[in-house]
Amino acid sequence: MPPLPARIRLFRATRVVAATAGSQRSGVIEAPFLGRDHELRLVKELFHASAERHSARMVLVSGVAGIGKSRLSWELFKYLDGLADDVLWHSGRCLSYGEGVSYWALSEMVRARLQIGEEDPQAVVSDRLRTGLERWISDPADREYISPRLGQLLGIAAPRQLAKEDLFSGWRLFFERLSEFTPVVMVVEDLQWQTPGSSTSWTTSLSGPVTTRSSSSCSRARRQQSKGASGCLGDRSPPFPSTRFLTRS
Ligand SMILES: Nc1ncnc2c1ncn2[C@@H]1O[C@H](COP(=O)(O)OP(=O)(O)OP(=O)(O)O)[C@@H](O)[C@H]1O
Ligand SMILES: [Mg+2]
Repeated sequence: MPPLPARIRLFRATRVVAATAGSQRSGVIEAPFLGRDHELRLVKELFHASAERHSARMVLVSGVAGIGKSRLSWELFKYLDGLADDVLWHSGRCLSYGEGVSYWALSEMVRARLQIGEEDPQAVVSDRLRTGLERWISDPADREYISPRLGQLLGIAAPRQLAKEDLFSGWRLFFERLSEFTPVVMVVEDLQWQTPGSSTSWTTSLSGPVTTRSSSSCSRARRQQSKGASGCLGDRSPPFPSTRFLTRS
């Protein structure tokens, strides 16, 4: 056995400032996270309850600019990143400007999941969509259903534009399928920029109760429903547990 060095330097880890392997570390020194233990504990607990019970939770965090909403999400991210089990994290922000940006936050999440860059040409987007769906969605029928709906979200030219409810059911099915074996988190930043009546309904629709471990026949039945009916899947679902807390100074 080799002899012990004369002096061993010990370090105590006091806080986490980056994701695994030092990724996503801020360029500036990060101030310690103060005064929001209760809020952080609450979102952690809601995450675990949701994952254990295979049901969705929606948490709305509101407060004035700079109060710490994004920081709370970053702290949750670091916590989940440090867990032994995988978590599929998605984050997107609503834009305050521009045409056709109602679903920008969602498209950011989907692009990140499918490893599609904002500037990628259509051929690359189509290719990544196909390979991404093959990777994440096991049922070919589900893939066939989801593909044109995500394609429209990602700006792939299609022979016909699908109706909003139809799109929602495809987007929702994508995230349902992702959540079958791994918990899924979706963080929507800057929700105040949502266009009333458009994005509001996608967040509500997607955050409704997620059918985890559901069979293909179930999803097919739901698709049939969504094709012929006026509402989207989320509209027919019972209310989901939601938590709202205001961040105040
Ligand atoms: N609890 C906290 N402890 C220490 N620093 C914090 C805390 N909350 C926020 N901060 C710091 O304050 C700054 C602003 O916080 P943050 O960006 O999270 O605000 P926000 O509510 O998301 O603002 P906006 O509405 O503009 O998006 C950041 O530098 C962040 O690290
Ligand atoms: Mg913010």
